[in-house]
Amino acid sequence: MKFYIKTYGCQMNERDSDAVAALLVQRGHELASGEGDAELLLINTCSVRAKAEHKALGKLGLTTAPNRSKTLRLVGAFGCMVERLGPRLFDKLPNLDFAVGTHRFRALPDIVDRVLAGPEKILAVGENPDGEHAVSEHAVLGVSAFVNILFGCNRGCSYCIVPTVRGGEISRPAREILDELRELAARQVREVTLLGQSVMAYGRAQAVWEAADRSPGGYQEPFARLLEAAAEIEGLRRIRFASGHPSGCTAELARVMGAVPKLCRHLHLPLQSASDRILKMMRRGYSADDYRRAVARLRETVPDIAITTDIIVGFPSESPSEFEATRAFMDEIGFDNAFIFKYSPRPGTPAAGWPDDIAMDEKIRRNKTLLQDQNRRTLAVNEAMIGRTADVLVEGVSPRNPDRWTGRTSGNKIVVFSPEFDMRKGDMIRVRIARAMPQTLYGAVEGSPCEVER
Ligand code: 5AD
Ligand code: SF4
Repeated sequence: MKFYIKTYGCQMNERDSDAVAALLVQRGHELASGEGDAELLLINTCSVRAKAEHKALGKLGLTTAPNRSKTLRLVGAFGCMVERLGPRLFDKLPNLDFAVGTHRFRALPDIVDRVLAGPEKILAVGENPDGEHAVSEHAVLGVSAFVNILFGCNRGCSYCIVPTVRGGEISRPAREILDELRELAARQVREVTLLGQSVMAYGRAQAVWEAADRSPGGYQEPFARLLEAAAEIEGLRRIRFASGHPSGCTAELARVMGAVPKLCRHLHLPLQSASDRILKMMRRGYSADDYRRAVARLRETVPDIAITTDIIVGFPSESPSEFEATRAFMDEIGFDNAFIFKYSPRPGTPAAGWPDDIAMDEKIRRNKTLLQDQNRRTLAVNEAMIGRTADVLVEGVSPRNPDRWTGRTSGNKIVVFSPEFDMRKGDMIRVRIARAMPQTLYGAVEGSPCEVER
């Protein structure tokens, strides 16, 4: 059956969608060229904010309506919102055919078969009785791929739904991850992003290295060891990871990031707030000063590291001066980019029990202020690159202009250029930056192909 997956939410959801696609292809189904072409439509859902849920519910409402497209035979939902709502999802969407939670993706092809065979609707949520989490298969491979290394989260931030919908931390064994990376490299993947909610906690709650892999003293810093081992894989040119937490920015991680050239000079390090009182209420486990020192440690070994962040505005009781403290701190750090979110109470989280007392128009004002600040800052950071060269991993033809190609810098900035010589996806090229926009750099390819490492 032809299927199409529409994905809401984070990079982890993108990875899950690709894993589900691979499982369906293994079962003999076929990836549709677009949504209009699909007989089976799957919606991968997100619960992080109310707005994310509304979007997925709206889409599911339309696609399960009686007047939906005639080609569409089955509509299923999976991921975080399914896990959160469970049977209530079918109250909201009586025509939904099936729903699969975050721990049950492996069962999805069987569920599709069962729903096709009979009139029943199927809901699969909660812990997987087989205890199996990881899917190593990938369906659509480009230059770059996501790889899960750590599922769930143990941090317990007071506003966050993730532990409810994705469970506690489970690290994959290092050997399994390295095998997946080798397989990807053999299939021409040149860049991988290692994923975990709090990725630096990799290997802290479980042993991930086998005795034979370990040094006599054991591995104190399993995440740093994983990065080093991944960098040894031939064919992989770049390694990224997301997301970070200040407590994981150890001296050892800073050393490895400085010493291993394949590790990208970029870190997404969510700040959320720079008010110590708000950080405490958020249960983030660091102060503004801890964050400052984490950044300083990384900049010592990787001076040009690009740092991006997430901020929540309008958290319960956030005063104007606490908001201004965050604003000033963002300037102090000089973030390369930032995602700004309006606080959204998530049912069942500790913060949802506190008054959501910042008015919506004030949340909007704070959100706009930080966005404007950041746009200015991002542009200034990008303009500072004009005249300099950047190493760019070629991703392919620009989606906006077929005459141009795009790629990314190590610092995760998008670069647009005219293709030169016999350029191929996955090539590493040097581009001299000529023009900067807030989200894009433009430049000209420098050097001849023989100077470029293939
Ligand atoms: N309200 C608003 N933003 C949230 N985030 C997580 N939970 C909430 C919430 N309840 C934001 C955080 C996180 C990003 C993925 O989403 O900034 O880093
Ligand atoms: Fe990703 Fe969190 Fe949304 Fe789940 S709830 S998709 S983990 S952002």
